[in-house]
Amino acid sequence: MRKACTPSKFVADVMNKVPPSGIRRYFDLASGLEDVISLGVGEPDYVTPWHIREACIHSLECGETSYTSNYGLVELREELADHYASKYGVNYNPNSEILVTSGVSEALDVAIRAITNPGDEIIVVQPSYVAYVPSIMFAGGVPVIISTKLENNFKLTAEELEAAITPKTKAVLINYPNNPTGATMGKADLEAIADVVCEHDIMVISDEVYDCLTYNGGHTCFSSLEGMRDRTILLNGFSKAYAMTGFRLAYAMASPKIISAMMLIHQYSMLCAPITAQIGAIEALKNGKHEMEKMVRDYDRRRHLIVSGLNKIGLKCFEPKGAFYVFPSVRDTGLSSEEFAERLMNEQKVVTIPGNVFGEAGTGFLRCSYATSREEIEEALVRIEAFVNGL
Ligand SMILES: Cc1ncc(COP(=O)(O)O)c(C=O)c1O
Repeated sequence: MRKACTPSKFVADVMNKVPPSGIRRYFDLASGLEDVISLGVGEPDYVTPWHIREACIHSLECGETSYTSNYGLVELREELADHYASKYGVNYNPNSEILVTSGVSEALDVAIRAITNPGDEIIVVQPSYVAYVPSIMFAGGVPVIISTKLENNFKLTAEELEAAITPKTKAVLINYPNNPTGATMGKADLEAIADVVCEHDIMVISDEVYDCLTYNGGHTCFSSLEGMRDRTILLNGFSKAYAMTGFRLAYAMASPKIISAMMLIHQYSMLCAPITAQIGAIEALKNGKHEMEKMVRDYDRRRHLIVSGLNKIGLKCFEPKGAFYVFPSVRDTGLSSEEFAERLMNEQKVVTIPGNVFGEAGTGFLRCSYATSREEIEEALVRIEAFVNGL
């Protein structure tokens, strides 16, 4: 008889060190419950605008079903270069400085792998998107955490960054507008970060997937700051701004040396992003501004509704200036983030995500997404109030 296989012994050690996403757990718990309102998902509640879907359908009808260049369609890269030049005044060469990827998720993974040697430290600013720490660990790097604070509106300060840098630091990973807090950083805030980054000669990975979703003031693109273009790996995509999560389409922009290193990984692991999604992205850039701005205006109205509603209930809520999340404190209720989220779901059928899922810095907070219809937000607020009053 042949020897029995023990599959677990073949799993790489790092897999046992990376916990599963805390967000998933809440969806699993909620599935099966009826009449649930979800403020849990970080996904637009809109369907992709029709003209974008139509461009994709047309391309399929024309038989455009092939691989593309590993870098992505030239036309898409040219549109992206024009878009950044006109919107942010930063120039990228479409032939050597732009890589089209399958989501910011892939761009992030490839960016980290392209710059990380075993043991290199990458600084993560928390509360943060759940994929950052695992991506660094999968690449053999060491995540070093900075916990931002409500008192600073969850901004990263130059002092905090300086204190976290060691001789092993390779890069700092920033994300403004931020998931999960909705915090943004203005030009002056980012200039202070740029000074520290240059002084210590490290890179910046800037995840700007929410750049179009800012309220009360525009977005500052990190690579548009003086001297920062070649020090930044800029990540952005179509999921959030154009309600295109299922298309899995994004891009990275950086200096040619970094992009060709990223390309090497992308080429052998992904080959190219799907052509239909790339065609949709071209259409979004060419003709999608109007629809996108309409969605952003609607998020803004919902933002006001949920921020004032939560504050009235007594869940103190920092005013988010970007993305589509609010991050109220539940500390005054005496419950932990997890107790609050779990009981709110079981007793009132409202799904939220405990803040500590996004790192220690999120302890005592809750992430609520307002990429949900106005009616659902209103009903969720009624239920949350009933829950808090019943404590
Ligand atoms: C900050 C941040 N980065 C990246 C992603 C992943 O985006 P994509 O759909 O482009 O992979 C998300 C999704 O929620 C996010 O919030």
